[in-house]
Amino acid sequence: MKKLSYLIVAALLLSACAKEQLPQANYDIVPQPKELTVNEEKPFELSPKTVIRYEDGLQREAQFLSEYVNDIMGFAMEIQEYQGQTDGIVLKLSPDDFDQAEAYEINVTPKQVTIKGTDASGVFYGIQTLRKSLPISQLSTANCKLPTAIINDHPTFPYRGMHLDPCRHFIPLDSVKVYIDMLAMHNMNQFHFHLSDDQGWRIEIKKYPELTEIGAYRNGTVVGHNGNLYDTIRHGGFYTQDELRDLIQYAAERHINIIPEIDLPGHMQAALATYPQLGCTGGPYEVWRRWGVSEEVLCAGNEEAMLFLEDVLNEVMDIFPSPYIHIGGDECPKVRWEQCLKCQAKIKELGIKGDERFSKEDYLQSYVMNRMAKVVEARGRRVIGWDEILEGNVSETAIIMSWRGTEGGIEAARKGHDVIMAPSSYLYFDYYQSEDIANEPSCIGGYLPVERVYSFQPLPNELTPEQQKHIIGVQANIWTEYIASFRHVQYMAMPRMDALAELQWNNPEERDFDAFVERCRKMAQLYDLYHYNYAKHIFNPQVWTDTVAPNLATRKPITLREQPNEQYAYEGSKVLNDGELGRSSYNSGRWLGFWGKTLDAVIDLEQPAEMTHARFRALVNKGAWIYNPSEAKVLVSDDGENFREVAQQSIPISTWSDKDGIFTYELEFEPITAKFVEVVVKGHDLPEDHDGFGHPAWVFVDEIEVW
Ligand code: ACM
Ligand code: ZN
Repeated sequence: MKKLSYLIVAALLLSACAKEQLPQANYDIVPQPKELTVNEEKPFELSPKTVIRYEDGLQREAQFLSEYVNDIMGFAMEIQEYQGQTDGIVLKLSPDDFDQAEAYEINVTPKQVTIKGTDASGVFYGIQTLRKSLPISQLSTANCKLPTAIINDHPTFPYRGMHLDPCRHFIPLDSVKVYIDMLAMHNMNQFHFHLSDDQGWRIEIKKYPELTEIGAYRNGTVVGHNGNLYDTIRHGGFYTQDELRDLIQYAAERHINIIPEIDLPGHMQAALATYPQLGCTGGPYEVWRRWGVSEEVLCAGNEEAMLFLEDVLNEVMDIFPSPYIHIGGDECPKVRWEQCLKCQAKIKELGIKGDERFSKEDYLQSYVMNRMAKVVEARGRRVIGWDEILEGNVSETAIIMSWRGTEGGIEAARKGHDVIMAPSSYLYFDYYQSEDIANEPSCIGGYLPVERVYSFQPLPNELTPEQQKHIIGVQANIWTEYIASFRHVQYMAMPRMDALAELQWNNPEERDFDAFVERCRKMAQLYDLYHYNYAKHIFNPQVWTDTVAPNLATRKPITLREQPNEQYAYEGSKVLNDGELGRSSYNSGRWLGFWGKTLDAVIDLEQPAEMTHARFRALVNKGAWIYNPSEAKVLVSDDGENFREVAQQSIPISTWSDKDGIFTYELEFEPITAKFVEVVVKGHDLPEDHDGFGHPAWVFVDEIEVW
């Protein structure tokens, strides 16, 4: 008791002394407001006595503002209807003052703060801006100053989204709500909720109750990166329709629309496990315990399967008022359809013919997609599909979500489709955000640091300004194969979603990454306040010291007799002897990748030199089809034409019980003097116990050293 009263006195004293140095708001936030003019008048003082006054229709917004101020400043503000008072924080609707939806203006004067918006969304974003600007004070119940200013702001893209996959790992409803809070904080207005996949069906469908009795649970999960070990832990869960309605309401209050995705006709193994008669083979099927792309897809020649999809979509639309319904369309292998009598009969019945661009089975998928699009459009909604749906004759009304790069989006915009850009190479937040993989939580692979997200240009130069208007928005995706907890989801999301938010809201022409990082520091204080987990790499930049000691090969002219795969060629041969080592990410630009080709590098040492060793490094990431080499050879030459072998090593293939990682291969030989060195590295074929059996393994090589 005594201690407590002492604390109160101390706090009072402190707040009295601090009167003149009240903490001050700072409008440098994420996303950065488009226009900000701060002036030198006396600042507005925000205190527990400040009243929030709202115009009709903005009561919920007023409550949000009060809650946010309470979270940050530690005091609750009174809320009243606005009746022309000249003090407090006033929330107003003012559609005539703006040219577009979701716009807002904040006017901070010494006496009053006015937030006016085109619509309630605009006011909500104004509130978000004010909230993010507040000083995060250690002293609860302290007042703070808002510098007098005018902020004028509106979004660049009407569609600003993030996706979440609760199928691979189930995400409880309360966590999904936190995710929605995170989106709201970043001025996003679309939440793409991926509700069905091979590994779990997550939405209650009343007409098909077994979908969630059977299809929502799997009896184990593959361990690590799709090896041949499984745990035996039953995993799953689903959302009831009541829960989803509650979630939709929760999101709507935060001006976020939830787009449900039923991924069809592939990624349907959980549904097939429930109703095997809907597949081409009739099963049996299991709710999949592996990751990747399943060959088991819905039978497109089975009318019962089509009616099933129509029923499911209709129930989904009964629940979700979303103007957009996502019907997937990605990664649908055609091997079953090629063999299936029903599918082939359907192809015949529809008079489908393959051509030089697409197979008849590709067009069969278009038939399924277009049929489902009609069901959706009959209810006044629009379909979204992954960019694979361009492979065939997709209806022009479909919105294309470009995930395999931006090419699909470019092609779609040229054809007149609306497009959402979500290329994996910039916006797949399930990729690593650091090259220091040993110190990162598990991940699907890839390498996508915040800098790269921030560098994305959503409006491709290849498009005319008229075509660019079809790019309605930008989205990042979080798939959860390797993300088993919501804390981990948050870590993958932030601060990359800060970079995304700036692209969506502003798409700035000039990107000042350092200034952006400073704005993120302020956001990080909010994340700490709300106990959000987030990655901190950009705040503590690592300087890699991974360079090799100069050796005979370093930065000498180097040529390749066979070229690396185009996707992993980067700056070409010089990657191999630039003195810089690749780390665990195969796509960092520090490794060259070869697929079905031999690495055959000739290095011109420029003058004869005596040598006894050559060494190189190779990456192993078996889940990504990258294996160790099968053979390495060293040859030397005096004239660059006639080579003789001086060392050879055969290397057995890595097995699932061997670790992935970076391995060094060193070849030693009798001292020899020569002017040219040739290093040859061959790959294995993928073994029988690998999903890719029948294909070559990738070989990724870096830094050849000679001494
Ligand atoms: C996807 O990542 N398969 C859309
Ligand atoms: Zn079939």
